[in-house]
Amino acid sequence: MSLPKPSDQMRHNLIMDALMPFKNDNFFDELSSICERLFEMELNEDQLLNENSDNPIEHHTTVLAHMAEIAKNEFDKGRFNLDQVKQALAVAILHDICPVRKITEGMIKEASPEQLYNLKRERDSSVLVHMEKGAEMARKKLLGLNKSFMREVFKEQEIDLICNVILIHDNPKRNLKIPKNNSMAVMLREADRLWMVTLEGVCADLDRSHKDPKDYKAQFKQVVKNMKRFKEERKLYCDQDGPFCDDVLFFRNPTAKNIFDILHSCWSKECRFCVNFEIDYDIELVLFYCRKGCFTGADDGNFADQAPFCQDFILDNRPESRWTKISPVENLYDEYLVCSSIL
Ligand SMILES: [Fe+2]
Ligand SMILES: [Fe+2]
Repeated sequence: MSLPKPSDQMRHNLIMDALMPFKNDNFFDELSSICERLFEMELNEDQLLNENSDNPIEHHTTVLAHMAEIAKNEFDKGRFNLDQVKQALAVAILHDICPVRKITEGMIKEASPEQLYNLKRERDSSVLVHMEKGAEMARKKLLGLNKSFMREVFKEQEIDLICNVILIHDNPKRNLKIPKNNSMAVMLREADRLWMVTLEGVCADLDRSHKDPKDYKAQFKQVVKNMKRFKEERKLYCDQDGPFCDDVLFFRNPTAKNIFDILHSCWSKECRFCVNFEIDYDIELVLFYCRKGCFTGADDGNFADQAPFCQDFILDNRPESRWTKISPVENLYDEYLVCSSIL
């Protein structure tokens, strides 16, 4: 069974939204016609509409949107020409063209000892298939695109470059680095991973692990978990692989880091469940207090359950506040603290 094909209008809107950074450029129509054609060419049950596909259809256009923002910045700074912009957009649309069954951490955790070996083997080999076969399929699509436009939209060397990026784009899942001299691959990796801190990406993760995607608490936990993976990915690299945008995360492209900061601030500031909360990916503390003084007793075991529903909880970061430690939530946070000094 394949996933439903998005309507012409929906496809058009997704691509137009993604290409917004270029809306005032005189080559916008050319970019949009290439992207729309490539996207349309991939929408069949062997590719983006495959039910084994790792991600919903919006994944591809969200990665395209991030890549468009990154490429626009490179173009404006004179580091990218128009051909490189087109390559960046093509690589974003095509990067996940070969669907494979996703083996999640949850599946590994729940597996019986007999299943575990096979699942781990499948996970390792499926990443390779995803990249190697994906690169081959992308080459065919790009040659097909040239044919359908009856001109060489992408030259042979450009097709090689795009396919070589797809060939390594998920290498960090195999504990291999994305080399810093392959800037297109660095950009794609970062544009791709940013999906994990978008609302759609977090909901897709929850859906995959059979949790309610509308559950705000679950969304919150998931985004914290995903940010931890950004930190883990950084551990693959040493200082010589940089420069990095900060000391904690794996971002090397400043535009990608800016997108991350915006997405991160949305999660931090928006009141998701009647609590203003902070997600700090650096110190990993979540700090709340209640203006009315509810739930602040050191022995109040109900805090973790009740706090998310209390209208009066707000963030308190003042250095003079004192904190009462309560139980860690599924080891996701180092500590879960409540202020007891401001009542
Ligand atoms: Fe991928
Ligand atoms: Fe992806």
